[in-house]
Amino acid sequence: MKLNIAVLAGDGIGPEVTQQAIKVLNAIADKYEHTFIYEKAEVGACAIDSTGDPLPKSTLDICEKSDAILFGAIGDPKYDNNPDAIVRPEQGLLKLRKSMGLYANIRPLTTYKSLLHKSNIKQEVIEGTDFVIYRELTGGIYFGEKTLSDDGLVASDNCQYSAMEIDRIAHLAFRAARTRRKKLTLVDKANVLETSRLWRKRVAIIAKKYTDVAVEYLFVDNAAMQIILDPKQFDVILTENLFGDILSDEASVISGSIGLLASASVGDKTAMFEPIHGSYPQAAGKNIANPLASILSAAMLLDHFELNEEAQDIRAAVEKSIELNLTTPDLNNTNHFSTTNVGSFISDYVMDEDKTNYNKHNIDLGQSTII
Ligand code: IPM
Ligand code: MG
Repeated sequence: MKLNIAVLAGDGIGPEVTQQAIKVLNAIADKYEHTFIYEKAEVGACAIDSTGDPLPKSTLDICEKSDAILFGAIGDPKYDNNPDAIVRPEQGLLKLRKSMGLYANIRPLTTYKSLLHKSNIKQEVIEGTDFVIYRELTGGIYFGEKTLSDDGLVASDNCQYSAMEIDRIAHLAFRAARTRRKKLTLVDKANVLETSRLWRKRVAIIAKKYTDVAVEYLFVDNAAMQIILDPKQFDVILTENLFGDILSDEASVISGSIGLLASASVGDKTAMFEPIHGSYPQAAGKNIANPLASILSAAMLLDHFELNEEAQDIRAAVEKSIELNLTTPDLNNTNHFSTTNVGSFISDYVMDEDKTNYNKHNIDLGQSTII
């Protein structure tokens, strides 16, 4: 298969982790005789620095003509610490999601046996957790009208949803539930918010078409507690933009590190694949960031094109690296490995899992593994 992939590495650790995902995709291309053509484009703080715009038109053009977008991370402390900044890196990501019609953000959460003991949550609580969050991505409070009074003392963000915006992602979530354990949980705040009551009404109507899927409704405050208390109860979580943003960071604690969580954003046009983590500026350039979320996002990209065997190869290699403790400091504080070392191990393992020459003794010593 031939795929044109737009690479928007972005800010902070974005370029480092994306580079590892590309390395792994190249290994897949070699092994299965695919052709992946990458075109780099700027987004975020780096794009503001060079063009003044967090999403230059040239970047959007590249995305529109590509088959898929591989996204790194966005954000820079110089904007985070300046609430008066008029142009912000995040606007680039939001505009990209909106312009590309990426209304559904799919965030899977799994656990790895060898990481269970590292989670802050008790092992017996998280073992076997496997759910996916369907987060609405182009509506709600993120995109509603924003106001700030002239005296700067009163601000507002409007939260608006239409039935159409709810229905299209609800259908995707119900269809996903059908291929899984057939349970869908709508997370909302219907005891307070009008938009949440509309979500409930629409989901109840759509549920009639998916009678094989059990539907449950949870208020977001309760859901935040249940995710930590009993995460195994969830299969597909469907929720609005802001709640999905918050709950997915919370859920990452279950898997052991936010550096493990990948996502796919799908909708009307080209789909995009990105880690759920941010730009982690403190780690930028140090070769310590966890590349697994980016590499697993590349696996989701392959799945999107029904290259399921290829995607499975990547997941198996990621599992192997975790099993061998061949991981970055967020998962391994005694003998950690560098971003590039983890990426090289995974691409080598993808190429040839039998011959990958990993030296267990060196791994335990925290030294080079690929020999
Ligand atoms: C995410 C991020 C973004 C969001 C930021 C960077 C705008 O936190 O993808 O979860 O809030 O959607
Ligand atoms: Mg977030």
